[in-house]
Amino acid sequence: ATSKKELLDQKNAEADLGGGEKRIQAQHDKGKLTARERIAVLLDEGSFEEIGKFVMHRSKDFGLDKEHYLGDGVVTGYGKMNGRLIYIFAQDFTVFGGSLSETHAEKICKIMDLAMKNGAPLIGLNDSGGARIQEGVLSLAGYADIFYKNTLASGVIPQISAVMGPCAGGAVYSPAITDFILMVENTSYMFVTGPNVVKTVTHEEVTSEELGGAMTHATKSGVTHFVSPNEVECLLAIKKLLSYVPQNCENDAPRYPYTIGNELRPALNTIIPDSANQPYDMRDVISELTDTDSFFEVHEHFADNIVVGFARIAGRSIGIVANQPAVLAGVLDIHASQKAARFVRFCDCFNIPLLVLEDVPGFLPGTDQEWNAIITNGAKLLYAFCEATVPRITVITRKAYGGAYDVMNSKHIGADMNFAWPSAEIAVMGASGAAEIIFKREIAQAENPKEKLQEKIEDYTEKFTNPYRAAHRGYIDEVIYPEQTREKLIRAFEMLENKVDVLPRKKHGNIPL
Ligand code: COA
Repeated sequence: ATSKKELLDQKNAEADLGGGEKRIQAQHDKGKLTARERIAVLLDEGSFEEIGKFVMHRSKDFGLDKEHYLGDGVVTGYGKMNGRLIYIFAQDFTVFGGSLSETHAEKICKIMDLAMKNGAPLIGLNDSGGARIQEGVLSLAGYADIFYKNTLASGVIPQISAVMGPCAGGAVYSPAITDFILMVENTSYMFVTGPNVVKTVTHEEVTSEELGGAMTHATKSGVTHFVSPNEVECLLAIKKLLSYVPQNCENDAPRYPYTIGNELRPALNTIIPDSANQPYDMRDVISELTDTDSFFEVHEHFADNIVVGFARIAGRSIGIVANQPAVLAGVLDIHASQKAARFVRFCDCFNIPLLVLEDVPGFLPGTDQEWNAIITNGAKLLYAFCEATVPRITVITRKAYGGAYDVMNSKHIGADMNFAWPSAEIAVMGASGAAEIIFKREIAQAENPKEKLQEKIEDYTEKFTNPYRAAHRGYIDEVIYPEQTREKLIRAFEMLENKVDVLPRKKHGNIPL
């Protein structure tokens, strides 16, 4: 007879094996890790505590009464990541293809509730064939329970979704509601309907990878924030990401030790090219301003006319939003506005101060932009900044033109400190465009119109293509030498450390969606 201890040993071993050796091998053959292997990579060694290891489904239809697996296709629990508490669920593709049943969903909901009550991040590792087809509406109900809890948890605890296999149909909407999505090249894909349905409905021939692979969502849709070449890199990226983020909305991000030294960065003095139309890489500015190797870019492959990401300044976690003059002159368009707005809102949810680096010629003109609602989408970024109550600092390195000047964290919409470099140009538009419009008649009537235009451009440049008009008004708090910028930022963020700002009482705002 089996002793009581042996019975427990047996059950543990059975649960650990998921769908069995053959299916584990198939998972490995695809270049994928199992749910438990993923958890082992992610969490501090030996820290994982599993919850609901022996849970089984209760379904009887379509032969399910004869097929049971302990754990029901998802491994759930809590553990430590870099010494900090996190809650995690990892779908096990070896069990019913990781498909989501009523009980599978209950397990996920259970740890979501714990994560909410105890104020710690939730990490979901998705690898699933979707709703468990044999269960019908029960599995749909399970998804909805998760979506609902994801939404209630939004802004309370950080929620991270890694997609490490299929994620199709309704399954996509949990990751979509969470704060960040990570995908793995070649082994993960997300879509609402797969290639077969697409072919039937729209007659398009497309592979899974093209339709919803990692690079597709990184570059075209912006659905994923991060792509990794393999699963281990993806898991390490989750670890890195959470190192910039607090446990919940009541906490601050972890502070890294830092001793103030010589904070002058003379390289910044020569970073702006002599000609205003010449590009430079804003990432070079970022790396001079932030702690060594601390910049962690978000949405790297999407809307690269704007750069966003986390970094540290003197050990403090900050979020950076920076126009990128090296791409489309750093213009704001629909995608750039969406990307930056979402990032600003994440930082504001979780008390991460914002640094804006500004070199923006305005919004992108054209029918494509207008017809796809640059008005509504640009307003997202404006609204997100207006509403943000975290410490907010702007540095204008060069252009700050037109409405984009207002949008990019100007003093007028609540920024705490605005600095400008001597190279800043704060005006309604560039000098030549401005001169052509306001002196149109005068130029046309001149003996030498070309000369007149040049004269007027110089006139406008002298008046407006500098930071001083704005500084005279106090719209710029200080015009600084570029090399001083890091020092100024360290002091200003420290000065703003205990900032309290409250929005008017309301149910919630109505951001233009
Ligand atoms: N419900 C129940 N079981 C499922 C499932 C689902 N949604 N998706 C996959 N499975 C099972 C398969 O029956 C198979 O079982 P087996 O190991 O006993 O043979 C196992 O999971 C692996 O699936 P398989 O199709 O062999 O893997 P694959 O890597 O070749 O393909 C998918 C993966 C996800 C593309 C494919 O399984 C699929 O299309 N699933 C259905 C997707 C769907 O339409 N879901 C419902 C809408 S939300």
